[in-house]
Amino acid sequence: MLPVEIKENVYWLGVLDWNIRYFHGATYSTNRGTTYNSYLLLDEAPTLIDTCFTPFAGELLTALRRLLDPQKLRYVVVNHVETDHSGALPAVMEASPQAQIICSAKAAPALEKLFGGNWPKQVVKTGDAISIGRRTLTFIEAPMLHWPDSMFTYVPEEKLLLPNDAFGQHLCSSTRFDDDTDAAVIMQEAQKYYANILLPFGPLVLKKITEIVKMKLAIEMIAPSHGIIWRKDPGKIIDAYVSWAKGENKNKAVIAYETIWGSTEKMAHAILEGLVQGGMEARLYKMSASDASEVIADLLDAELLVVGSPTMNRDFLPKLSPFLDDLAALKPRNKRAALFSSSGWSGGAVTELTGRITKAGLTVADSLEIFWAPSASELENCRQFGLRLAGRN
Ligand code: FEO
Repeated sequence: MLPVEIKENVYWLGVLDWNIRYFHGATYSTNRGTTYNSYLLLDEAPTLIDTCFTPFAGELLTALRRLLDPQKLRYVVVNHVETDHSGALPAVMEASPQAQIICSAKAAPALEKLFGGNWPKQVVKTGDAISIGRRTLTFIEAPMLHWPDSMFTYVPEEKLLLPNDAFGQHLCSSTRFDDDTDAAVIMQEAQKYYANILLPFGPLVLKKITEIVKMKLAIEMIAPSHGIIWRKDPGKIIDAYVSWAKGENKNKAVIAYETIWGSTEKMAHAILEGLVQGGMEARLYKMSASDASEVIADLLDAELLVVGSPTMNRDFLPKLSPFLDDLAALKPRNKRAALFSSSGWSGGAVTELTGRITKAGLTVADSLEIFWAPSASELENCRQFGLRLAGRN
């Protein structure tokens, strides 16, 4: 892509990865692709903020050369060592012999282990500032947002925050900004990003945002390392992060289930009816036909998770496992859970599901089991179960 000037002499040098469909070892689906956003600050000491995923190193250098001879690059800020942002570092450093890396204390040894490059490095911590001419780079360590090495770079003269992964979205588009891209799509992908990556670190996210608020940084633009740049309304994504980090929920339920011959599915639909009748927004996912990353995203602002499975070999159906594994890793806060099951000769699914849901840190508020196909009265019980979960009987 051609560079895009996002502020005077500040350029987006991103790479568009339209076709990537999974991230993080295929635990996160990226159905809309992604971008790897680097930023070039043209100043007395030209500075590159982050690089990109290894296969796109040539593309990044081509974009850089449109604006600057890489030999003149003075600093490369590594806000985060993960390969999607640092993979092109060897190519950039080879082309830029004058460049010095700026990174956090945790990033420095990681870079050496990852790349072995004996590159000059300057380690920075929160509050440090480096003048690059007309502008200043200031740094805010942001450990576990989402790796220990993560940091944000802030440019006060531009009121520009460069927070790497934070506030990003896995969203590839030919547009660059929040004011020229579908707002609903941006927020959907931002929510999915937070739910699948930052959910376990809610207290740290809240603490970091509180710290930034206390610093009274003027923020006119947030330029993350994935997806679109927040130009029109950077406060929108900050407010959303605060809400998600606090575990604020809607009056909303997510039903995730699996079925063999349709009995548990009938229960799922009857429970949904009860929830909706009780005034809740409800979403229903048969997990063998669903994308676990999308379900996790939908669960982020739901206060109730309802999980159902028939029993097979005294256990729940294995197609639920990837979703339950994600839950155990992400440990969503401030949510109730309920279970349901239709079994044949003997039960077992509810017991096993209870163990897995508890492991994810959720409390099982209620459960409902039937045997064989649900009768009309049992389906009515399912509807009442939904109503009860919605607080209506
Ligand atoms: Fe944590 Fe986008 O890398």
